Amino acid sequence: MRMVDLIQKKRDGFALSKEEIHFIIEGYTQGTIPDYQMAALAMAIYFRGMDSQETSHLTMAMVQSGETIDLSPIKGIKVDKHSTGGVGDKTSLIVAPLVATVGVPVAKMSGRGLGHTGGTIDKLESIEGFQTELTPEQFFRNVNEIKLALVGQSGNLAPADKKLYALRDVTATVNSIPLIASSIMSKKLASGADAIVLDVKTGSGAFMKKLEDAKALAEAMVSIGKELNRQTIAVISDMNQPLGYEVGNANEVREAIEVLKGEGEAGLTKLCLTIAAYMTVAGQIYPDFDSAYEELDKVLRSGQALETFKRFVQAQGGNPEQIDDPEKLPQASFHVELKAEEDGYVTQIDAEAVGIAAMLLGAGRATKEDTIDHAVGITLRKKVGDPVQKGEVLAVLHSNSEQPAASINRLKQAIVIGKEKVNKLPLIYDVLQ
Ligand code: URA
Repeated sequence: MRMVDLIQKKRDGFALSKEEIHFIIEGYTQGTIPDYQMAALAMAIYFRGMDSQETSHLTMAMVQSGETIDLSPIKGIKVDKHSTGGVGDKTSLIVAPLVATVGVPVAKMSGRGLGHTGGTIDKLESIEGFQTELTPEQFFRNVNEIKLALVGQSGNLAPADKKLYALRDVTATVNSIPLIASSIMSKKLASGADAIVLDVKTGSGAFMKKLEDAKALAEAMVSIGKELNRQTIAVISDMNQPLGYEVGNANEVREAIEVLKGEGEAGLTKLCLTIAAYMTVAGQIYPDFDSAYEELDKVLRSGQALETFKRFVQAQGGNPEQIDDPEKLPQASFHVELKAEEDGYVTQIDAEAVGIAAMLLGAGRATKEDTIDHAVGITLRKKVGDPVQKGEVLAVLHSNSEQPAASINRLKQAIVIGKEKVNKLPLIYDVLQ
């Protein structure tokens, strides 16, 4: 087989076979297929697309390019959850202990944040002493005892995806549905869960700005799950404004604790209960979505999920006093208020711009090498659709510098006030399974 013929085949709009796709991915991982040929193929895929079978073969070839995690030492149906990335997205911190409380084992690997989006691992590292690396023995013991362990991505999972993603990043071929779907699903499948609930974000702060693109991505990932016998459910949710009120790290942990007490912002709570309900149905704890949602709502209000979160934090070396008293989590030195300059309604809170404003404070990374400041971040006081009066506080910037001018400017531009009343934004657009 020659790579040049396969590039030509895809360029001319034909489907690649399983053998051809495995030949390409093996060759690329081993270095016998050079970057320039792979870049040409990625561009051909970008324009010609891939059918669902090709996408599944590509996913499986990338899974098989490296290690896979065997979760068989863990009892029960293991259900994973993945978000395509957003601003203020602390759902894993809430959903994981919630489903663990009712008996779904969660053995989860999470990522760090980059650019305007945050990462679960960074948020957890706000807690003093919290370890994001565990030995396999500790990892399995914690999941069997507490039903929950959450660690950073380690090992050599889907190395072909890592190499291809870096190449796509510099050849303008990231935004291709089959390439994104296979990239995400290869990592999820290599991490070993029996079922996967995906939170596909759409809107200004998401990867997929348009709902139709988010739907197409969700469909592609659910279809890969079906082809490869791994139950996959995709919730398509809004990312036109940040999720909840807090954007940062320690402040997002504080907000997650509020939700775990049953006292969180309504939209964030609803999204967490929705994802958790699908996870518990996939985990065969409840028979259907409605009964799962109702029971999980009760569990949340009972404080049991917060208790699980505290045990999980303690089991990974974190200071439980900071969970009992979240004010003890890192705090910034300065709190700068952004006030409304006119009466009206909040018509827009550009999630991406808020994420960048938080990154400029030090809550996120512009490049992979940057370190982050867990204490800084942004608290929104308003959501889209809320009325405001001149002089009212719209948001607070928690900063370790006295006048974070660049961040203030970004945030000012992000929050738009208009005279006309606007509706609240929808939260969940669709669910595919
Ligand atoms: N996230 C991924 O993991 N892969 C992509 O291709 C895009 C987003």
